[in-house]
Amino acid sequence: MSRREQDRTLEAAWAYEGRYGRLIDASDRPLFHLSPYVGWMNDPNGFSRYDGRYHLFYQYNPYSTQWNAMHWGHAVSDDLLRWEHLPCALAPDRPYDHLGCFSGSAIELHDGRHLLMYTGVQGAGRTEQGVPVMRQVQCVAVGDGIAYEKYEGNPVISGDALPAGLQRSHFRDPKVWRGEDGSYRCVVGAVDADKDGLVLLFSSKDALSWSYEGVLARNGGRFGTMWECPDLFELDGRMVLLASPQDMLVEERERLGGGALCCIGRIDGKSGAFDEEGLWAIDGGIDFYAPQTLLTPDGRRVMVAWMQNWDTTRQDLPDKRWFGQMTLPRELRVRAGRLCQWPVRELEDLRHGRVTYQDVTLEGDLVLEGIEGRCVDLTLSVRPQGSGMYRTFSLNVAEGRGCVTMLSLNPREGLLKLDRTRSGSRHMVMHVSECSVPMTGSSCDLRVILDRHSIEVFANRGAQTMTMVVPTDLAATGISFHADGELVMDVEKYILDADADGVDVR
Ligand code: FRU
Repeated sequence: MSRREQDRTLEAAWAYEGRYGRLIDASDRPLFHLSPYVGWMNDPNGFSRYDGRYHLFYQYNPYSTQWNAMHWGHAVSDDLLRWEHLPCALAPDRPYDHLGCFSGSAIELHDGRHLLMYTGVQGAGRTEQGVPVMRQVQCVAVGDGIAYEKYEGNPVISGDALPAGLQRSHFRDPKVWRGEDGSYRCVVGAVDADKDGLVLLFSSKDALSWSYEGVLARNGGRFGTMWECPDLFELDGRMVLLASPQDMLVEERERLGGGALCCIGRIDGKSGAFDEEGLWAIDGGIDFYAPQTLLTPDGRRVMVAWMQNWDTTRQDLPDKRWFGQMTLPRELRVRAGRLCQWPVRELEDLRHGRVTYQDVTLEGDLVLEGIEGRCVDLTLSVRPQGSGMYRTFSLNVAEGRGCVTMLSLNPREGLLKLDRTRSGSRHMVMHVSECSVPMTGSSCDLRVILDRHSIEVFANRGAQTMTMVVPTDLAATGISFHADGELVMDVEKYILDADADGVDVR
């Protein structure tokens, strides 16, 4: 490919975005969750702070609402909620990435430039049986927060750096950070000859010339094959490793209780390996994958994930020119050895129209005046009436037009269930998920965030979360409550109202 042809691939993406992105009306998008400018979105990439703003790139195919020919889409924000789309940042246009610019991360270099580190996918002929072979290598591009130039020395980490026995075809998703000594580190996902997932550690003085440091963590055949999109950071005195297991068996997914995992532990002083104290699902809903984190200037560790799941990607919203959205950015803490999540505090600036009810006795069905809507921040505190114990509590949202999405709590079993079976989906995919919630005397605190086509539930101050896409027609704005047995609840509700004009400022 000549230089001119290479540039044309990116220019073609810009031209396509310019032509079709603007046809998408802001009212057709989530209000405060990032969706692709046009076409398809998967993993968050390059989630970073640069030049005074938050940058969120994403796996992107502008040309269709299906996965193909990965580019990097790009958006910026001052508050992590109202995103402005910038032109596509990377296109698959070099011999080392012509099959796709896969997931990666970003960091500000010592000299003030913004570095994107990503996986380049290239073809490497065919097997004797004619099956195409691919290679995955780690590459960088450097830019000013808008335009990025791929480094002429790419790839910066090739399969030659891998220890014997590791596969060159599954070596991807670098997450880069700067250590306290000023040098750069990155973790990258890999698999061995038995397809077992490994997280590898690399180091570099300049982010261009990298050395292999060793195996940080191993799946050990527990969950799926490769652990995609690893992220590693220190939080509240512990080390936290996030990963998304590929190809989990159904029973493995059930055992984990979600589609992405977090390990909490320490780094062994001698071996440098991750010493795991515990491993849990990050989110007990259906649509949560490939999370990535950043550190805000005021020291908060904030995580964002793809609000989807590879098995349900046919669940597209009708008549849309876009597919895929990110979760709400969530502040992370480690409490009692577990990862806890809470909506970023910036969300509070979007709240208005407070409606509250205190000590409402609930038995059977109830609708409360002023409690409705599809862009809502709802806090519920549920407790038994006297010494009695209710059997279930349910919250129905996106209710109307024959549809409903139901969140129910069974205090005896300590189970939260999220069910979108009757949400208007036309796809026979997973629609129900359950999550254990430790109960204190059958009382439970729930915060529920709705944004047009999604529900995110934060239980017990964020100790458990459940996330799901809700495909229901936006005319279904009903919210109602139900109790089997008798209980008492407090309700606080705000309307969430972003300035939707912020979406399209190209
Ligand atoms: C995870 C993933 C990554 C890869 C990207 C490709 O969802 O499979 O491992 O880099 O998506 O789009």
